[in-house]
Amino acid sequence: MTPATSPITCYLNGEYLPLSEARISPLDRGFLFGDGAYEVIPVYSRQAFRIGEHLKRLQQTLDGIRLPNPHSNAEWAERIERIIATAPYADQSVYLQVTRGADDKRDHAFPKDVPPTVFIFPSPLVTTPDAIRAKGVAAVTALDNRWLRCDLKVVALLANVVARQNAIDQGCAETIFLREGFMIEGAASNIFVVKNDLLLAPPKDHRMLPGVTYDVVLELAAKHGVPVEIREIDESELRAADEIWMTSSTKEILPITTLDGQPVGHGAAAGKPGPLAQQMHGWYQQFKNEVMRHG
Ligand code: PDD
Repeated sequence: MTPATSPITCYLNGEYLPLSEARISPLDRGFLFGDGAYEVIPVYSRQAFRIGEHLKRLQQTLDGIRLPNPHSNAEWAERIERIIATAPYADQSVYLQVTRGADDKRDHAFPKDVPPTVFIFPSPLVTTPDAIRAKGVAAVTALDNRWLRCDLKVVALLANVVARQNAIDQGCAETIFLREGFMIEGAASNIFVVKNDLLLAPPKDHRMLPGVTYDVVLELAAKHGVPVEIREIDESELRAADEIWMTSSTKEILPITTLDGQPVGHGAAAGKPGPLAQQMHGWYQQFKNEVMRHG
């Protein structure tokens, strides 16, 4: 049951109010058309991680869907920081969304002079339990049935939602999308492959979301001298991988140890998290702690 008044404060169109009291119009274009952009920002010890990169990607999404950004980065940061400060937990996942607002009618074409809807709310950061991280998770593959602007972080996520649920229904954590024989990304994550100590990452283009975590992983790989190739990864390489990882702001780096029911990797290491995944997870934690300490 939802409590009458939520202890969670959200931001909606200029106001800070209990989440349980927030209301938007049923004519909101986010509701009618999925016409909006969003971001999910991880927060550790009440410090937003890589906020600048998230706001940059928000701008790219807004530009891509021709929705003027209602706020400067400083205004966004001020609002996000206030939401972080009021949340009853220190480690959070802050969700923000901008839609093209609510007109007085339903029309596919953009409305004129309608203010956007801006919404921000915090959730507790749900981290992966150590026992699951130690085993890795299972994934399935599916043909990518999404549009060709997967580089935009838009709220129209139906294909991703159904793909993630199909994975859950099969006892798996993620669906990995394949398009024209290439591995693209997960339903809500980017995917990396390790083969013969080489880290393979698909290129950032219109087919996948340019993940903030993806960039951190590549920066850490460069810093620690891990050989990397950024190029298209075909399905056979995915299936022959030594390691497969999923990455996202909330999952960080999570090894995928079973793919379509088959163990990932070879010999005695098959079906277990690989050494590079464990190392990268360690580097990521170290990096996070440094950033949190020094800002
Ligand atoms: N999803 N690809 C897709 C399709 C995603 O939805 C996400 C993240 C990523 C990883 O991006 P990042 O590293 O910036 O979190 C890749 C978020 C967490 C979500 O929708 O909840």
